[in-house]
Amino acid sequence: MSHTIQELLLKVHQVNLRYDKQILRDVNFEIHNIVRPDMNQGQVVSLVGRSGVGKTQLFKILAGLIKPSTGKVTIDIDQHEVKPGEVGIIPQNYILFNHRTVYHNLKIGLDFSGKKISEKEEQDIINEYADKFHLREHLKKYPMMLSGGQRQRVSIIQQVLTGNKFILLDEPFSGLDMLMIDRVVDLLLNVSTINDFNTLIIVSHDIENALAISDTAFILANQEGQEGATITEKIDLVSLGFAWNPGIKQNAQFQELVAGMKHRI
Ligand SMILES: Nc1ncnc2c1ncn2[C@@H]1O[C@H](COP(=O)(O)OP(=O)(O)OP(=O)(O)O)[C@@H](O)[C@H]1O
Ligand SMILES: [Mg+2]
Repeated sequence: MSHTIQELLLKVHQVNLRYDKQILRDVNFEIHNIVRPDMNQGQVVSLVGRSGVGKTQLFKILAGLIKPSTGKVTIDIDQHEVKPGEVGIIPQNYILFNHRTVYHNLKIGLDFSGKKISEKEEQDIINEYADKFHLREHLKKYPMMLSGGQRQRVSIIQQVLTGNKFILLDEPFSGLDMLMIDRVVDLLLNVSTINDFNTLIIVSHDIENALAISDTAFILANQEGQEGATITEKIDLVSLGFAWNPGIKQNAQFQELVAGMKHRI
């Protein structure tokens, strides 16, 4: 399948994070725009690593929510340093406005985008997304009346509606049953093809599901004798022929890759 790797969209420069001990050490990676002919192919990148390794800390750094001890994260064509609010985030325990209906929560996302649109256009957009992601019947409900998976979908769509091209997700598969995981996988694949520049970054310890929707994965791990986790491996799923294939979890070679990685994180 032909594709080209184009401009730099996000770069992590020599990031170190230290509290009482070193958490992250010399983390470096880049995300480039992947272009496929005749389609809007966004980017999906996974950062995988075992529990406690520092994934959520790196997530916060990528979102501009905490400053690393040294190093920086730059985004967009002009490669400016990331500021809070420029990257959509779906935290490990995703948050919605509980005293607002699902409709209103989605409207908040749309308002954040700053687009000047009529109330009618606003309704049309929200209804369109609600239909696409099976939420139409829930629009009048409050978040407490939804299941965990439904809440997560609202939260993801809310971020899409803000117009942020970068969307970070921390453990999007945790706490969901297999059917819901497949729904989220579909939703994320959908989001990643809405716009060529959409870039999803998934932080997860669920190697199988993270890799199944990614074009690139990075392993965050500790190295023998060194304090602090770093990127120990880059997996190019496009070159391996595993990317952009909704049925990839059924592929034996893909499963072999996943099984092998479990020993390396
Ligand atoms: N404010 C803080 N002060 C000191 N140490 C911290 C602070 N926040 C996090 N840590 C430590 O940083 C390390 C990495 O935590 P982090 O939450 O990033 O792990 P994680 O990889 O996301 O784990 P999980 O998969 O369980 O979510 C942990 O050892 C944690 O105790
Ligand atoms: Mg975490």
